[in-house]
This record gives sequence, structure tokens and C-alpha cells, in this order.
Amino acid sequence: MSQPPEAPDAAAAGTTSTAGTKASNADEVAPQATVSTPDGAASATQDGQVSDTNAAAFPDSEQRGPRGGSGQMFDRIAHRYDLLNRLISLGIDQGWRNKTVAALALREEAQVLDLATGTADLAILVAETHPTVEVVGVDPSLQMLEVGRQKVRARELGGRIRLCEGRAEELHFGDEQFDAVCMAFGIRNAEDRPRALREIARVTKPGGRVAILELSEPRGVLGPLARFHVHQVVPRLGALLSGAKEYRYLERSIASFPPAEEFRAVMENSDLKVLEVVPLTFGVCHLYVAEPARGPRP
Ligand SMILES: C[S@@+](CC[C@H](N)C(=O)[O-])C[C@H]1O[C@@H](n2cnc3c(N)ncnc32)[C@H](O)[C@@H]1O
Repeated sequence: MSQPPEAPDAAAAGTTSTAGTKASNADEVAPQATVSTPDGAASATQDGQVSDTNAAAFPDSEQRGPRGGSGQMFDRIAHRYDLLNRLISLGIDQGWRNKTVAALALREEAQVLDLATGTADLAILVAETHPTVEVVGVDPSLQMLEVGRQKVRARELGGRIRLCEGRAEELHFGDEQFDAVCMAFGIRNAEDRPRALREIARVTKPGGRVAILELSEPRGVLGPLARFHVHQVVPRLGALLSGAKEYRYLERSIASFPPAEEFRAVMENSDLKVLEVVPLTFGVCHLYVAEPARGPRP
């Protein structure tokens, strides 16, 4: 709590790489022309596939500072992120992460990739729940990773958790390198979600589990109450405690994220076979469980 209201601006100091490290497979991922809807939700690509991107939701012209959801934006709130996360989600977020870990159905000594690892909460949970498993966490925010590294060291998990800089859209890992891939509250931030999903499918072994946890615009019976929390409480609490406007982004990005069935279609058009979509806490959050759509390579 000793941080100044505006976190030490690592982005301004130039300590953050936004582009991530260069992917060895970059040329293999075909760029896709997308026709985005104004709200940045699901849209159709020129080849007729369902697409989905958050880039259009927060055009550069509206931005003062880093793009909403980018690593640079998260650099600004990294030192308060964990506290704010617990307060904003009313402490429910760890329960959701537990379900995500269970959905990975990990065997002994599995290799797990945690995308958008941030301050490494999910990576740590995977490693603590499965003592023989190794985790690689990837995130574009150096400040989030630094907080994560401190937590990993404090728990003496450095031998089994490795954190590195990178973006989900261009992973510098080989095909079928991981037994399982997870991503908590991160897919919303990817500029090109279909591309990130195709990368996830590429690096996952056939039959390996993919578990994606993401917030949604609350609907249903408790929708109005939950929407009040997301639209009124979260931005104010976030701004109050962090002194930053970044928590407006959270509200806007949740509102523009596609409904669960639409996002399921985006996943299925991005090389993944969805096994299950689990609504959590009255649909405030969804857990998407999938596996690569392709079978074993010959
Ligand atoms: C809301 S935090 C989630 C952190 C963590 N997974 C958790 O459960 O608390 C979102 C993270 O997504 C990261 N991020 C933004 N753009 C990304 C991208 N293109 N690929 C991967 N991660 C990204 C941000 O830097 C940030 O750390």
C-alpha cells in the first residue's frame, strides 16, 4: 500500500516491451483480415469466419495513454493489482481459479502454459496443487511479471515456475509443447483473440486441456445487481484505490466481450473443440474448457 497513487510509470520509462518477444513461428500464423463491429465484439472475417477482437473497442484516437488491456496499462497498476482483484471480485476469483486448475485434469509431471499470467496467481495455484507439474507463465507486462516473480520466490516455487515476457498472439514455443494451457482474465485483453486461440491450439498436445476463464457482462436474474457492481462499484473502487483510470477499462472491456455462446463459436473457429462452457457465480464469469480440434499428427 506504499505505492504512490499513479504507479511508477514503467511504461513511460520505457521498461516495457509491448510487442513481446519475437515468435519463432510468426510466419506460420496467417494474418486474418477482420471486419470488426463498432463494439469490438464478434465479427465476420472476409473469409466468412466468426472473428473477435478487442482492438476496435478501444481505438487509439480515444486513448490517452496505453491501449486498454495492454501490458503497458497493466504495468501502471501492477503493484496494486492483487489487492484490487480480491476487493473487486469480493474474493471469489481464487475459487474460479481453483475450478480452472481442476479443469486442466493434469497428470504427473505435466508441462503447463499459463497465458496472461500477470502476477502469477494461476501459475502458483497450478504448481501448489500439483507438486510434480512445471509451469511457464507468459505476459507482456514486465511489472506484473516482477510482482509474480516475487511471489514465486517467496513460495520457493522458482524451480517449477518460469515467468517470461510475451503475447498470446505470438508464442515462441514449439508445436504441441504443452500438456495443458490455461488463461485467466487474459483473453479479453488480446488484440486479436482468434489468433491467440489458434496459438493456444498449436502449442497444446492433442487431447490436452485448454481452460480459459473470463468475465462476462452479467445476465439473468442477478444481472442488474451484478451489472451495478461491474459498472458502478468496480471503476470507482479501482480509481479510488489505485488513483488510476485504468479500472474504467475493466468495465468497458467486460461489456464488449462477446456472450458465452458467441465466444464459444470464436473458439471453435480458431482450431479448438469446446468440451464445456461453465457459467460461474450467476454468469459473472465463464470457464471455457477445450482441447485442440486436430487429432494426433501422423
Ligand atoms: C486481468 S490480468 C490477469 C492476470 C492473471 N491471469 C490473473 O488471474 O490475475 C490480464 C493480464 O493480461 C495481460 N495481457 C495483455 N495483453 C495480452 C496479450 N496480448 N497476451 C497475453 N497477455 C496479455 C496483461 O498484461 C495482464 O497481466
